[in-house]
Amino acid sequence: GNTVTYDWKLEWMIAAPDGIARPVIGVNGQWPCPSIDVMEGDRVVVNVYNGLGNESTSLHWHGIHQKGTNHMDGPSGATQCPIAPGQSFTYDWIADQAGTYWWHSHNMGQYPDGLWGPLIVRDPNPPFQYDEELIITLSDWYNEQMPYIIHQYQSTDGAAEDGTPDPTGGALINSGRNVSIHVKPSTTYLVRIICPAAFSGHGWVIDGHNQTTVEVDGVYTEPIVATADGKNVRIAPGQRQSFLMRTKDDTSKNYAILDFMDPNMLFINKGQKPGPTYPLNATAWLVYNTSADYPPPPVLYNLGNNDFFDDVNYVPLDKEPLLEPVDRQLVIDMSMENITGISRYILNGHTYLGAKVPTLYSTLTVNESEASNPDVYGDINPYVFKYGEVVEVVMNNLHSNLHPMHLHGHQFQVIERSDPKAGTFSGSYSKLPAAPIRRDTIMVQNEGYAVVRFRADNPGIWLFHCHIELHVEAGFTATFIEAPEKLAASDFTIPADHINACKTYPMDYVG
Ligand code: C2O
Repeated sequence: GNTVTYDWKLEWMIAAPDGIARPVIGVNGQWPCPSIDVMEGDRVVVNVYNGLGNESTSLHWHGIHQKGTNHMDGPSGATQCPIAPGQSFTYDWIADQAGTYWWHSHNMGQYPDGLWGPLIVRDPNPPFQYDEELIITLSDWYNEQMPYIIHQYQSTDGAAEDGTPDPTGGALINSGRNVSIHVKPSTTYLVRIICPAAFSGHGWVIDGHNQTTVEVDGVYTEPIVATADGKNVRIAPGQRQSFLMRTKDDTSKNYAILDFMDPNMLFINKGQKPGPTYPLNATAWLVYNTSADYPPPPVLYNLGNNDFFDDVNYVPLDKEPLLEPVDRQLVIDMSMENITGISRYILNGHTYLGAKVPTLYSTLTVNESEASNPDVYGDINPYVFKYGEVVEVVMNNLHSNLHPMHLHGHQFQVIERSDPKAGTFSGSYSKLPAAPIRRDTIMVQNEGYAVVRFRADNPGIWLFHCHIELHVEAGFTATFIEAPEKLAASDFTIPADHINACKTYPMDYVG
């Protein structure tokens, strides 16, 4: 492949995607931030300069496995120190997985302030045909900046989840609330949907057009019409979904699109219902004809779980078989506690507090036998896996909200997901799929569970966390330490810019 180099200066700038001006983090004076768009096999080099002045940063390439390049994964505290204001830092990795991904800040709950963009790795021979492509991002939006929102969320007057500020700007499609998407007639579009939301999952309806899903989270699926029987497409924070859409031959009409925040999320239980007047939705139009009417969006009332296509039913096109037998089952009970007025998420009794030294560096500096001992790592919810074992993770969501759980370094197989309020996993599977769908993020239902599997064949430090950014800041993270003895035994040396980041940041690692 080629080497594709991006020189990115991160800076605050002013934008008003919902009409209300506020500071956002842009790249080279551009917001929404640019896409990374490369061919499968390309080497991607991103030279980052932190010009923010008041905040440190780090960048993560969501969904990219970083085989052999764990130190380029990006989460501060896990694989690197934060990049301080005024510092430069280079990310350098191989884009060896075709598909739809995204990049975002992985430091201090920062990405909802605008520091994210699409990451497209193109397949020279995709297993479907299309004429044109659309990249659509669906997000919630806030008129306050994240440091303030996080403070509110964790302040003593916010009673836990009720302290979540409502998204004041509502949902956004490609960073606007009323967006025209111009299409050609009689054309097959590949529509890549990315959900970089901070809090809410999104539903998505295009009037009069079917959506045939062909990819989720970088995994090709058997083509499935996800909008049959009036079902809506749902996408959770962190997820991607691509579909084929054939446009009409007739150009006399335009069609409305509704992007609505997931009505199953807690904040909507505050008494609001999705619909055209619901202030938190965004509308867009498939525009065939600029002189035709722009019709109102579809009316959706009392949407429930069953009104969404169940994405567990996707089948990977490669039919990769179920991983079995399971060598290691890890059960994680996930809950929230209001600890003296502060919302903290608890995984098997522990909240993630973070490490003073990036966990990867700890692994590299201890001896091989110590590396396998979870006790050396501190308050990071460490789980150590042996090289090559098949790990089954059971997530019991004891909480009353949905949680999109994301694993770095892998696409896990989705074995099963319960309905809301189904309780905890009993230990018996309702049905073991022959070829489970694989993805990197799964929405776990409120007071329900999900079961996933992966093979621990990617030595590294990989975070496993809820992709609701406020929940990350409230400790909803575990650290999967995969084959640490291989890292400890490697002759890998930490690059100078990584060591430099740790010297200026108040962490006690000195390279
Ligand atoms: Cu999209 Cu740990 O992140």
